Amino acid sequence: MITINPMTLSDLDSISDILVSDFDDFWSYSIFKSELENENSKYIVAKDQNNIVGFAGIWIAIDEAHITNIVCRKNLRNKGIGSLLLQELINLCINLKLNSITLEVNSNNLPAINLYEKFRF
Ligand SMILES: CC(C)(COP(=O)(O)OP(=O)(O)OC[C@H]1O[C@@H](n2cnc3c(N)ncnc32)[C@H](O)[C@@H]1OP(=O)(O)O)[C@@H](O)C(=O)NCCC(=O)NCCS
Repeated sequence: MITINPMTLSDLDSISDILVSDFDDFWSYSIFKSELENENSKYIVAKDQNNIVGFAGIWIAIDEAHITNIVCRKNLRNKGIGSLLLQELINLCINLKLNSITLEVNSNNLPAINLYEKFRF
């Protein structure tokens, strides 16, 4: 079963060696670490047992959230984990009483476009 929780520094440390190989080379460890320490950011992590299978986060500016990333482990894509993470980010925004969620996606990133369109972005 996949569980989703707030992401901690120790979660990041546990995947620091495989950020490039198993997740996309999205952010360096140090940028990611400063994001986790930023009080205007919220990150969540998906785990299967104790194994990290994905993470996602937002930046918050006043009453708006901006999705900064959603990344699943390379060998576990297209199995619903991205949907679980995005649903949880949306729930988080609702709980924080935010008014809108924005995101950017590369026009050639079909999996991400399909994920976002599934949630009516
Ligand atoms: C984008 C990403 C997070 C999606 O996660 P995922 O776990 O594969 O997504 P899901 O399995 O929940 O699929 C969500 C929808 O996208 C579609 N999708 C997933 N992978 C796809 C693919 N390779 N090609 C086309 N559509 C795809 C599915 O059809 C699904 O819709 P459905 O449930 O109606 O079938 C994942 O591909 C990833 O980590 N990509 C690299 C990082 C990235 O580009 N992130 C987005 C920008 S920050």
